[in-house]
Amino acid sequence: MRPWTLLGLVVFLLVEDGFAFKDHDFKNCSQSGFCRRGRALAARAKEAKDAWKSPYSLVADSVTVNPADATFTARVKSSLYPGIKFGLELRVHHDGVVRVRMDEIDGLRKRYDQAASWALIAEPKISETIRWTAGKKDIRAVYGAKKEIEVVVSYEPLRVALIRNGKEQVVLNGQGLLHMEHFRNKDGQEGGDGAAQEVLKAENPPPREWFEGDKEDDYWEEKWISWTDTKPKGPESLSLDITYPNHGTVYGIPQHATRLALPTTTGENSFFSDPYRFYNADVFEYLASSPVSIYGSIPVMHAHSADSTVGIFNAVASETWIDVSHASEKSTETHWISESGIMDLFLLPGPTPEDIFKQYATLTGSPVLPAQWALGYHQCRWNYMTSDDIRSVQKRFDEDDIPFDVLWLDIEYSEDHKYFIWNKKNFPDPVDMVNDVAALGRKMVVIIDPHLKRTEEYPVYQQASERGLLVKPSNGEGEYEGLCWSGKSSWMDFFNPNAWDWWKSLFKTQSLPGGAWSWTESTEDVHIWNDMNEPSVFNGPEITMPKDSIHYDGWEHRDVHNLNGMLFSNHTWQAVYERSDPPKRPFVLTRSYYAGSQRFGALWTGDNLGTWEHMAVGIKMTLSNSIAGMGFVGSDVGGFFGNPEPEMLVRWYQVGAFAPFFRAHAHIDAKRREPYLLEEPYKSYVRDILRLRYSLLPVWYTQFRETTVTGMPIMRPHYVVFPKDKNGFDLDDQYFIGSSGILVRPVTEKGATEASVYLPAENQPYYDYFNLNIFRSTTKGKTITVPAALDQIPVFIRGGSIIPTRERPRRASTAMKLDPFTLRIGLSKDGLARGELYLDDGESYDHQKGQLIWREFNADKTSGKKVKKPLLRISSRDMASHEPEAAVDGVSLKTYTPENSFAQSISDVRVERIVVAGLNKKPKSVKVDGDDGELIWEWIDGVSAGDKKEGESSVLIVRDPKVLIVKDWSIVIE
Ligand code: NOJ
Repeated sequence: MRPWTLLGLVVFLLVEDGFAFKDHDFKNCSQSGFCRRGRALAARAKEAKDAWKSPYSLVADSVTVNPADATFTARVKSSLYPGIKFGLELRVHHDGVVRVRMDEIDGLRKRYDQAASWALIAEPKISETIRWTAGKKDIRAVYGAKKEIEVVVSYEPLRVALIRNGKEQVVLNGQGLLHMEHFRNKDGQEGGDGAAQEVLKAENPPPREWFEGDKEDDYWEEKWISWTDTKPKGPESLSLDITYPNHGTVYGIPQHATRLALPTTTGENSFFSDPYRFYNADVFEYLASSPVSIYGSIPVMHAHSADSTVGIFNAVASETWIDVSHASEKSTETHWISESGIMDLFLLPGPTPEDIFKQYATLTGSPVLPAQWALGYHQCRWNYMTSDDIRSVQKRFDEDDIPFDVLWLDIEYSEDHKYFIWNKKNFPDPVDMVNDVAALGRKMVVIIDPHLKRTEEYPVYQQASERGLLVKPSNGEGEYEGLCWSGKSSWMDFFNPNAWDWWKSLFKTQSLPGGAWSWTESTEDVHIWNDMNEPSVFNGPEITMPKDSIHYDGWEHRDVHNLNGMLFSNHTWQAVYERSDPPKRPFVLTRSYYAGSQRFGALWTGDNLGTWEHMAVGIKMTLSNSIAGMGFVGSDVGGFFGNPEPEMLVRWYQVGAFAPFFRAHAHIDAKRREPYLLEEPYKSYVRDILRLRYSLLPVWYTQFRETTVTGMPIMRPHYVVFPKDKNGFDLDDQYFIGSSGILVRPVTEKGATEASVYLPAENQPYYDYFNLNIFRSTTKGKTITVPAALDQIPVFIRGGSIIPTRERPRRASTAMKLDPFTLRIGLSKDGLARGELYLDDGESYDHQKGQLIWREFNADKTSGKKVKKPLLRISSRDMASHEPEAAVDGVSLKTYTPENSFAQSISDVRVERIVVAGLNKKPKSVKVDGDDGELIWEWIDGVSAGDKKEGESSVLIVRDPKVLIVKDWSIVIE
């Protein structure tokens, strides 16, 4: 055994044993120099109270207003360092978003300024109508339909406030914690324009200690455990307070394992003692309640009150810590401390959550429309060990009639963890294996990690090395080397543009000219899982790459760390996209991510534990990711570590079935736990849950279309749907599935037989999805208790919704293409309902050329051809040709025609059943509008939607109404 293999093995065993990779492998704020400095600054400010004044001011005579658009620039100075110049720029975008940028001018070095360019879809359009007006003390812009928004930049001290209707929504530097540490030299020379010392003497500024403290705390080097961060650029951190004076709840900044409404980290009775941290990390057995940084970072925060919602996106890519505190119940103070980079902050004015999603999607893009199969159930474990193992798993599922769409291969498929290269002993026939899976309409997902084994026998490493595409060590020479699954490895540097085309070429399934390596032992049915992309480095500081490692263009890893994971999966996504011609929708799962990653696929919440706490926090984490744009999200069903007992596994499937991304996964040491291995009744419970998921695929897919256009999340927490309902601001164990009207409250408590569910403050009936029993909310909201035995999931239809389902059990989603639909209608208290259905071929990009159907269903009382005042009229109409703004994937549907070939391919698909809950009386007749023939229907007496009573609702079941899904029709109930 070679020595590195031994070391690799030791690391592996440590991981396995779980005693090496714990909390103490990661810094807390007091162990991080710049975080300590930032918090100390805040502590000094707090102590000084009213005597504290920010040393930063805007130089009034430097204000330059662009006459052509809503931009101004100005110089900013610090009274402590008169020789240092800072530049400030504010732009108001056409949608009212305000971008605030500040950087050091003519500094000794350059701060990293490209985080936003990776996150944004395009350079935002600046308003050409809004104008800044500069006064003596401030400069302002006023805009909005009623001129209700005002942005005021005060000069001294520098302070930026976004105000709506006279109320401050978000304030920058209101607490005076702004501090951009300028570049300086180690010898005490502080940079600037050279005359700094002179100016200093002349202006006699206050001593710096009151603001900066009296010691140079870890300015030039930082030691931690056995590592030394050389910090060649010295201190360059950025501290900024962001206050929401009129918003008592804040959400967002995923990913942290905590509640959706962010608990406080400072101040009296703070919940956590450390700030939330952004430093993408592979944290072994992360805690179920902690501000510790885990795999991904989205620096987006929503501040919410019953009056309005406001958001910020802080485009910073370096390690960042965020303190949250509440000065009062109605206001929130946050303090952001980043290690490096410019200030590049976007203020999203709202005022509703819906507006915030739109504003954020306009900046960073909406989630893409996934392939439909990707919304089915994914079966994974570390590892399926041979190609016959894969075949046998597929067979066992089919024998037990349990549906699934995707089988996954973790790292053990590869020879010595050289990704792309099959271990031929165990996988002698990879293409045949994939084809066997694909023959039943299914796909495979195979893992590709970003660490490349450093061996001449690995063409991928060889080529990357020859082309100079690998991250360099701190001296900038050669290749950075660290340990990961492959033993001694080097890491792809996706900041290097030369890496992009080459990476794409690897995924081609055909041989390439000139003998360049490509993945010929793969097919277009193989999609990709990108893991360990924080990056995870087993022998690195905090299990990642040293901060002084060097990326393309000389940037230090510290500057770009939180972008690293996103670049990897984004380029993989493009590689899979370009693999086929015409392209098919790629599926790429990533563990690490940043703002903008939603444009490229799905994420999961990493290595959770098979505990009830982790099951519960997984829901909160997926909600938090969802509101920060990452809508295609889920957590490992079953828990990655451990051996969940059958009860836990069943509950976990219930959680997974109501997450956008639904995958079971398990650690290599965990016992096999595929659903077919369960004893009865658990096996049947899980089969039923999976069938439920499949029956609701039309709902999931329809909601995905919506998110691609509006950016509205698919998992919608209460505050998003009912922004004025204060009772729901802290709710994060129940949520809505998009705008479908489905409310779910997964059970995550051991031994539960019932569950409490909060029904929103609206006077509406809510129907139990399964038995259609009516519960009623009131205008004040109401908490109900419902039965929740192990085979029950609290799922409700909000009164006023029409849910399209496909209820024929099938082995995979691809087998459902021609299946008929059921419409489940829960009437509102006024006896109305509405719903949507979006469908396309599920795989190609033809939907962007109008190959699709998008229907609207309505239940109302409009007159039919013969019946003037029906009890109810249920109709279907073509949304795609009626909605002026109809779009999917951000592409407008101008080329759509109802006769498109996709619509024709499902022209025989019919509605096989309509179930109406809550009708107020037994019908006399049910007919297709204009026809004389009576349809077959059944009536069950019960409570109607408009009653005050609760209990069994009235149900009308119309069987085989002989109406087609692609056609306009109406059914009249008299
Ligand atoms: C870590 C991932 O989080 C986990 O899901 C995977 O099974 C292992 N790496 C092995 O690839």
